[in-house]
Amino acid sequence: MTPERVISIAFGASVVASAALVVVYLTGGDAQLEGLLLGVALGGLGFGVVTWATRLLHEDEVTEERPPLGTGEATVEATGQMLKDDEVTRRSALVRLLAGASATLAAALSIPALSLGPRPGQSLFRTRWSAGKRLVDLDGNPVRPDAVQPGAVQTVFPEGEVGAADAQTLLIKVDPERLQLPSGREAWAPEGVVSYSKICTHAGCPVGLYRAESHELLCPCHQSTFDVLTGAEPTFGPADRPLPQLPIEIDDEGYLVAMGDFSAPVGPGFWNLQRDDGEEQLS
Ligand code: FES
Repeated sequence: MTPERVISIAFGASVVASAALVVVYLTGGDAQLEGLLLGVALGGLGFGVVTWATRLLHEDEVTEERPPLGTGEATVEATGQMLKDDEVTRRSALVRLLAGASATLAAALSIPALSLGPRPGQSLFRTRWSAGKRLVDLDGNPVRPDAVQPGAVQTVFPEGEVGAADAQTLLIKVDPERLQLPSGREAWAPEGVVSYSKICTHAGCPVGLYRAESHELLCPCHQSTFDVLTGAEPTFGPADRPLPQLPIEIDDEGYLVAMGDFSAPVGPGFWNLQRDDGEEQLS
């Protein structure tokens, strides 16, 4: 088989495999088959290029001494031109095949970009809490402030969103006289009930332990400790941000409702990073 034919088959196989890879991906995908097709596409292209380089390109110039040919000069020139034209035709065909194989392979390799998913938008900054949403327990029952036991900690969710991971909130009842919440939050703890995000700001573990005698929430993962009386400021451990506080009030029927979303994005995240100018990335 001539080198040209071998190269054509190799490039053709690469084109077919790349196109098939795109089709397989767009029709549902199959990891094993996609890997096989990618191997054929890359292998065909590589084999074709190597064969071209080793069997069609001649680096050495060899001159063979021979007596003058019997044919006339015009015939020699015409034959030479004919051979030259044929070579150019074959070469341009191979070049077109190589370009086609490269283009289809590039299309196949761009497929992973389609798997990146939608942009997160504001979802990393917002939770399901909004003004007027009632606080409900794990059974979906709305919570009254007098149902929160002093010294205990209760997990609540927005009404209709029980189980929403980013909205899980801790309710704790303390003596209102001892609260020292940050400025502007004076009305956020009706009857001494404060509410904080349950997601640790260090690495996202659930903050589930409460030391009633010292009014501290404790994260069991790396022992970060948060002061409930001062807006859940961290007092010990690796967490360096307070637990975001949920502003709450009591509605006309005596149930606890949110006045809005948390005071800051919940959990750990990129907003902990410092920009080059030293500002926190909060927007
Ligand atoms: S995740 Fe809470 S201290 Fe590390």
